[in-house]
Amino acid sequence: MTLFDHLGVKDPFPFIDKEPYPVYRNRWRDLLRGKLKKSFKLEFNKKFDSKLYNDEFYSNNYSRTLKNAIKLLKTVGWRDDPYDRQHWGNWLHSLSPYQGRMTPSLAHWLIKIFSKKGDLILDPFMGVGTVPLEADFLQRFTIGIDLNVYGYVVAKGKFERKSIDYYLNYLKEMRNIDTSEIDISGVSDWIQAYFHPKTLKEIVFLNKKLRDEKEYFLLSCLMGILHGNRPGYLSVWTGCIIPMTPRPVSHPKYRPDKDKPEYRAVIPRMAAKIMRMYSTGFPLETNARLILGDARKIELRDDTIDVVICSPPYYNTLDYVGQNRVRLYFLGLNREKQVDLRQELIQDSKNYLDDMITVGKELKRVVKDGSLIIFVLGDVHRTKYSINTAKEVSEKYQQLDFEEIAIVNDEIPLNKVVSRSKRKKFDRILVLKNQE
Ligand SMILES: C[S@@+](CC[C@H](N)C(=O)[O-])C[C@H]1O[C@@H](n2cnc3c(N)ncnc32)[C@H](O)[C@@H]1O
Repeated sequence: MTLFDHLGVKDPFPFIDKEPYPVYRNRWRDLLRGKLKKSFKLEFNKKFDSKLYNDEFYSNNYSRTLKNAIKLLKTVGWRDDPYDRQHWGNWLHSLSPYQGRMTPSLAHWLIKIFSKKGDLILDPFMGVGTVPLEADFLQRFTIGIDLNVYGYVVAKGKFERKSIDYYLNYLKEMRNIDTSEIDISGVSDWIQAYFHPKTLKEIVFLNKKLRDEKEYFLLSCLMGILHGNRPGYLSVWTGCIIPMTPRPVSHPKYRPDKDKPEYRAVIPRMAAKIMRMYSTGFPLETNARLILGDARKIELRDDTIDVVICSPPYYNTLDYVGQNRVRLYFLGLNREKQVDLRQELIQDSKNYLDDMITVGKELKRVVKDGSLIIFVLGDVHRTKYSINTAKEVSEKYQQLDFEEIAIVNDEIPLNKVVSRSKRKKFDRILVLKNQE
């Protein structure tokens, strides 16, 4: 007698008992029996860290002046313990990965140093919404824009605040659905290579349902566990940020333990993901507006924004489409549409400065007089030379009547640098002021 006979329901995912990892078989059973919350070992009842998010930075002895802000920026240890811990702050930041995501603790300090409660903060390149999320936790109003639908979906997911029981019940309802008949013949071959066919059927079914029902949080959870290199992910062994292509059987170095897809049940992994996301808690009310749109054409009224905080793309260094190709596919962008999106994004070095000038003109229009614009920009390294992107952008923005207040160098520790070169690498924090 199977568990489902015992519960008197049809086995929803008839292959669940083929799930190779006992921990996920148990998660599924706990979910169906309503015992998941109890069985989960995380510090589940830990409250939202209101001290971290309530305390303002400035005091009577340390007044809010631009000079003090720059001094603080040079001294806050946002790369030191505890800020450098992988899941510092709030688990929601880890909803789904993104290459080039801003470190949440940096977003935290930039917001604390350069804005105050009640300000309206704009991030015109929000990616997966790191700045809007921290801004919201810090009781600022916030608007985020990105042209990449994957970033937009995940950012939306971070602001969809329903109760955990709603989500667990939603997953539980899946017990009435039989995914064995789902047709996956239309799924592109390069996507099929990542997944066991039975896992893929479940993904295709759930993905469509979540997209149709605009369940952004659950959709982001699905995106978050889609591919990676541990049993909690749904794919063959690959990167959780960048989906390196699995080797086909014909490859001379084919690795059956890594390249051969095994069945992995989707729902228990989703349930475990939800539990992690809720483990640090969050306020239910949010003050964010998120836009799937272009920073070169900002759909906001004039003179409305108090502070801009963002990390713009820089000179062709990261490919926000190629690196998200599997996730974008499930959000409706086949290869051709991905090519179109890549052309739309600011990431091509030829047009880079012109595009950033267009963005600057829009920012000039939407920010209030005297507002600050904070850009986190990395240098770009070529074999024989480096480009100081912050300096180049600053020169162009001064022509638009922004004043350069400071460029603060942030040396990236060598263990965080992707290349093997021993050359020092910098992110630079460019602080500009809209002339009054
Ligand atoms: C360095 S990432 C920002 C990451 C973000 N701070 C985060 O924490 O996730 C730059 C972002 O700019 C976006 N982007 C590129 N061109 C854009 C455009 N024209 N309008 C809006 N966003 C754009 C990319 O999709 C990418 O998400």
